[in-house]
Amino acid sequence: MTQAMSPSKVSFQFEDADETIEEAATGSSNLEEDSIMCDPHDSSIFGGDKTSADYYFDSYSHFGIHEEMLKDVVRTKTYQNVIYKNKFLFKDKIVLDVGAGTGILSLFCAKAGAKHVFAVECSQMADMAQEIVKANGFSNVITVLKGKVEEIELPVPQVDIIISEWMGYFLLYENMLNTVLYARDKWLVTNGIVLPDNASLHLTAIEDSEYKEDKIEFWKNVYGFDMSCIRKQSMMEPLVDTVDQNQIVTNCQLLKNMNISKMTSGDASFTAPFKLVSERDDYIHALVAYFDVSFSVCHKMTGFSTGPRSKNTHWKQTLLYLEDVLTICQGEFVVGTMTVTQNKKNPRDIDITLKYSLNGRRCNVSTTQEYKMR
Ligand SMILES: C[S@@+](CC[C@H](N)C(=O)[O-])C[C@H]1O[C@@H](n2cnc3c(N)ncnc32)[C@H](O)[C@@H]1O
Repeated sequence: MTQAMSPSKVSFQFEDADETIEEAATGSSNLEEDSIMCDPHDSSIFGGDKTSADYYFDSYSHFGIHEEMLKDVVRTKTYQNVIYKNKFLFKDKIVLDVGAGTGILSLFCAKAGAKHVFAVECSQMADMAQEIVKANGFSNVITVLKGKVEEIELPVPQVDIIISEWMGYFLLYENMLNTVLYARDKWLVTNGIVLPDNASLHLTAIEDSEYKEDKIEFWKNVYGFDMSCIRKQSMMEPLVDTVDQNQIVTNCQLLKNMNISKMTSGDASFTAPFKLVSERDDYIHALVAYFDVSFSVCHKMTGFSTGPRSKNTHWKQTLLYLEDVLTICQGEFVVGTMTVTQNKKNPRDIDITLKYSLNGRRCNVSTTQEYKMR
């Protein structure tokens, strides 16, 4: 276990994400003419009585978060490879980049020969994207639209491709997937492409006594005082952190597969069963969730995993600590269900209910735990 905040198994061959980023080509045009701006004085977005959704967009206004994403080589180079190595998909196509940020995916698409790219970004980073597009000579190909996908007017009735990097911690935290599905249903041409088109959530179990002691049990005795009320809270908050693969005790199980081209927003709330079979005699302190994404329309199947057996990404893994330590013998299993729902008050947050039991030789547990990703 290493650092902290607050989400592998791959059954296919990933493309090598080790190429260097090529310099963007240059061209010309007048950017201002290409852009539609949302009202910067709209206090519902950037001031006045901010909602948690406004704080969410504000967090994307600072370059720091974009630097972290761009420097996540697994993430960014996979998208780059998907686009550059599959130019046949993009040539002369109209592309919609949902949540464009700095515009990096739009630039990749423009360079790959897209006819036109609409880069929609609601945060203040849209202004930077606009400058970046201009500085790199793509103003005639990329139109930056500043506003929420759900509120903007697209200058074209339909697009051929929707590309987006929408994944949050635990895949679904931030709930940007809904925005992609909204755009798909509104603008994607019949038989159009959504990139990525597949995402899956996985579960495994780990030994993690040291970290549980440090992060959870710590509150039981703080300089001689009982702060167990905070322990209760810390138990309920999934922890985003990197897991050492040597900590993995059981198999990794697919929890939920999502076909982004076909699913409905309701499919992102679900109850899924799991069975985690122990690969050795050990103790289990936490269940660990992570996700894979793939781009099945590529010439060669491409994607990446955020699992503990893969190269680290900024998504790390999501740990759900268990109230009881499970003493498990090789071949025994933890069975249960995980229910994932959007929080009713703030749909960007996630509520998780974990039901699990172990009927082992040395341990019998059957319980339910609630978690809240905030
Ligand atoms: C995970 S970042 C990805 C940025 C960029 N595409 C990249 O790959 O580096 C998601 C971006 O989508 C934007 N975003 C999220 N929801 C949005 C919405 N409903 N409308 C417009 N932009 C949105 C955020 O502000 C953020 O910049």
